[in-house]
Amino acid sequence: MKAIVCTKFGSPDVLQFKEVEKPTPKDNEVLVKVHAASVNASDVEIMRGRYQPPFSRKPRYEILGSDIAGRIETVGSNIEQFQPGDDIFGDLFGCGWGAFAEYVCVPEKVLTLKPASMTFEDAATLPQAAIVALQGLRKKRQIQPGQKVLINGAGGGMGTFAVQIAKLFGAEVTGVDSAEKLDMLRSIGADHVIDYTQEDFSKSGQRYDLILDVAGHHSIRDYKRALNPKGILAVVGGSKGTLLQAVFLGPLISIFGSKKMGILAWKPNKKEDLAFLIELLEAGKIVPVIDRRYPLSEVAEALRYLEDGHAQGKLVITVERNNKT
Ligand SMILES: NC(=O)c1ccc[n+]([C@@H]2O[C@H](COP(=O)([O-])OP(=O)(O)OC[C@H]3O[C@@H](n4cnc5c(N)ncnc54)[C@H](OP(=O)(O)O)[C@@H]3O)[C@@H](O)[C@H]2O)c1
Repeated sequence: MKAIVCTKFGSPDVLQFKEVEKPTPKDNEVLVKVHAASVNASDVEIMRGRYQPPFSRKPRYEILGSDIAGRIETVGSNIEQFQPGDDIFGDLFGCGWGAFAEYVCVPEKVLTLKPASMTFEDAATLPQAAIVALQGLRKKRQIQPGQKVLINGAGGGMGTFAVQIAKLFGAEVTGVDSAEKLDMLRSIGADHVIDYTQEDFSKSGQRYDLILDVAGHHSIRDYKRALNPKGILAVVGGSKGTLLQAVFLGPLISIFGSKKMGILAWKPNKKEDLAFLIELLEAGKIVPVIDRRYPLSEVAEALRYLEDGHAQGKLVITVERNNKT
């Protein structure tokens, strides 16, 4: 089968599109024919060797890609939930990766049946980005109607889901990203937008009930200043400095004050969350923002486009032709 293989850390130039052996499922796995995958910032981070164990020289798994949607071809001997021909989707983060390939073996517990009404492409956008967005908006307690939510990095994969879901919860939403993405953010419901290259939200004097930050570059003091009393900070991603402060100082501040601050530790493939997201998508209440589609052979181009900060919403890899449904 064809796959995108990453045998060392580096730029997208290290990725090779080549023939590899088609995998065989273990007893607790299914073999999935991948119809669509989507690209996440976490693929870039692994390719670049960020957040990897010290002294590691190459990714633990040679085929990256965590979001898949596809059709089950064969099942292992212990599989009870699925059968060949089932259309599924899921997040392979932490369980082998491998979505940037024609086939991948996957433990059944990470998969969810794809409704017939949902395209493979739309399904591939959901598993990581939409789940993280939803869990971030529910950190500590679900955001309430009328509350003020700020989403930093709102124009990317997670952010575009977060804006739409926060609006559904009745929040007044501020989306922060670069200038070229602000019209798109307004079009998906953001009440206010901020170009982060021109204005620092933490110094504007505005206060928020929830800050969801997928591209954190602020100090914990900045966030504290920008939160209302009882406000919540959920840091999803960003610079090492911000992540470290959110991990170590956030909980300390939370103990001694009314503001709850920390990092979001998301739970991939949580069934209730996926069921909720499927319901929203089927009802047309959220719509994945898909900027571009690439064939499997062009995963490197997709990661370059994402890394250069151009992507508005999600980038989808169309692995199987005619994969619209
Ligand atoms: N905590 C968890 O449980 C968890 C789970 C999975 C993933 N993650 C993390 O989530 C992060 C984001 O993922 P994603 O897929 O949404 O990324 P993405 O699609 O690249 O979106 C990030 C957005 O942030 C913008 N941005 C960059 N720097 C910014 C700044 N200083 N201020 C405001 N916006 C800025 C980018 O736009 P420009 O580049 O144009 O500026 C882009 O639109 C990754 O770091 C990933 O590791 C966390």
